Amino acid sequence: MSKTQRPYPSRHSISKVSGLQRRSVVGSPYLMPNSAPAFTLVDVPGAIPLLGHLGAFRKQPLEMLTTWWRRHGDTLRFRLGRRTLYLFSHPDLAEEVLVKQSDRFVKVYDPQRPTGLALVLGNGLVTSSGEVWKRHRRIIQPIFHRSRMAEMADRMAQVGEQRMAAWNGHAGGTVDIAAEMMQLALEVISQTMFSASMTQHIDRISHALQVSIKHAFDSFSNPLFLPLWVPTARNREFHAVMQFLDGLMYGLLAERRQSRAHHGDLLDLLLQARDEETGKGLTDQELRDEALTIFAAGHETTANALAWTWYLLATHPEVRARFHEEVDRVLQGRTPNAEDLQHLPYTRAIFEESLRLYPPAPAVQRKATTQTTVGGISLPEGAFVLVGTYNLHRHPDFWPNPEEFRPERWLDAERPSNRYAYMPFGAGPRTCVGLHFASLEGPLLLALIGHRYDLQLAQEKVEPYLMVTLRPKGGIRMTLQPRKIPVPSIG
Ligand code: HEM
Repeated sequence: MSKTQRPYPSRHSISKVSGLQRRSVVGSPYLMPNSAPAFTLVDVPGAIPLLGHLGAFRKQPLEMLTTWWRRHGDTLRFRLGRRTLYLFSHPDLAEEVLVKQSDRFVKVYDPQRPTGLALVLGNGLVTSSGEVWKRHRRIIQPIFHRSRMAEMADRMAQVGEQRMAAWNGHAGGTVDIAAEMMQLALEVISQTMFSASMTQHIDRISHALQVSIKHAFDSFSNPLFLPLWVPTARNREFHAVMQFLDGLMYGLLAERRQSRAHHGDLLDLLLQARDEETGKGLTDQELRDEALTIFAAGHETTANALAWTWYLLATHPEVRARFHEEVDRVLQGRTPNAEDLQHLPYTRAIFEESLRLYPPAPAVQRKATTQTTVGGISLPEGAFVLVGTYNLHRHPDFWPNPEEFRPERWLDAERPSNRYAYMPFGAGPRTCVGLHFASLEGPLLLALIGHRYDLQLAQEKVEPYLMVTLRPKGGIRMTLQPRKIPVPSIG
């Protein structure tokens, strides 16, 4: 899309001129020394007294975040009840908040008064801030080191094979591919991080996470939500599923402590961790929080990414044909491994392009710890900021034909000029700890499944909806059409 075809009013363009940035904000062009370009904050119209934009947002959060952006621009302010939020949908602002000024922005959760995701995950890596986060990230990071990825890939493929064996009975039949991917990714994370199989509990776990995360999301986005101690049916259900998840996590920890077995997995790392100064290990609560965090964050995102990828493949036959040609040529009947991914560039491009159009984390939240200025916009201490990843990924200033699913853009060196125009795994110090893991898991499972099955869409409409992650509403029904696998070539 050319600049003149932008879906919303163009407000600035930037070109570098010998150490100066020349900015032209519509109506006020001027020169200034190198610094972040200035933006104009727009208040989203339509706020009603007390509630602000709550009504519209609660009904269709993703729809509102994108519609407001398209109509009113990259820097917006809106209100959910008493809470004021800033929505930033420009890569320069993403860089400011998440990278350059990362020490001025923390996660929005308060461990003393947990809300939202912290109600479920406690004070784990996703929700914690400050020293606790730093220390725990140091403990957990090594499990995701590149050197462990080949071994992880073998486990992922093993789990994939087990799932394929279960699919044999469904060949030619229809499944909800979103639920299938959720179960597959859940088993991958259980086996790789906890050396445990969760297959018997999968339905209960999926249900528990679904209920608890929905509750967390509602409690965060709806200031009128009744507190947890009020014995409503929903609150009681929430307590029940949390009890189940706690039991599962504490059970895993107790079993490992008792068996004294060493698996070199995440559970070992967490149990062996010692504070450098005090020599103390993590408390049971900390262990539970970190285990549940990796468990939840490590499968929900990848599962949604895979479900969206199957949907995109099913609706783009030319891409699907090229994908099948590549996996058939490279795998020839074999189970894929980490090495194979080097030879599957198109499959990797498909996954990258799917993460662009349907980023599992469509917005990243932060709270300002101090008064600060971002892109010329003054933010008060405590300001809530949403970096609109979904919008960045479709920003017409950085992506030609942004709405088009075109994996080729990742092969044709057509990457955006600004690296923060693509950030499915976040940016800065809080970048996803599972980035390499997920970048391996996604294409590997795509290749494994796509080699055996042609997944065809069995429903008309598929609608995205935001509930912490970006899910297909009501799942995606797909037919599992078995494919003829080429016989492996010998010699
Ligand atoms: C396609 C798959 C995935 C996507 C799109 C994704 C996306 C993200 C994003 C955007 C963040 C940053 C959130 C923020 O800055 O507030 C994040 C953080 C995180 N992710 Fe992922 N993730 C994926 C897979 C995984 C996997 C497989 C794991 C674990 C095995 C994982 C564990 C985490 C954790 C623990 C954090 C918090 C890191 C920190 O703050 O230090 N993610 N993820």
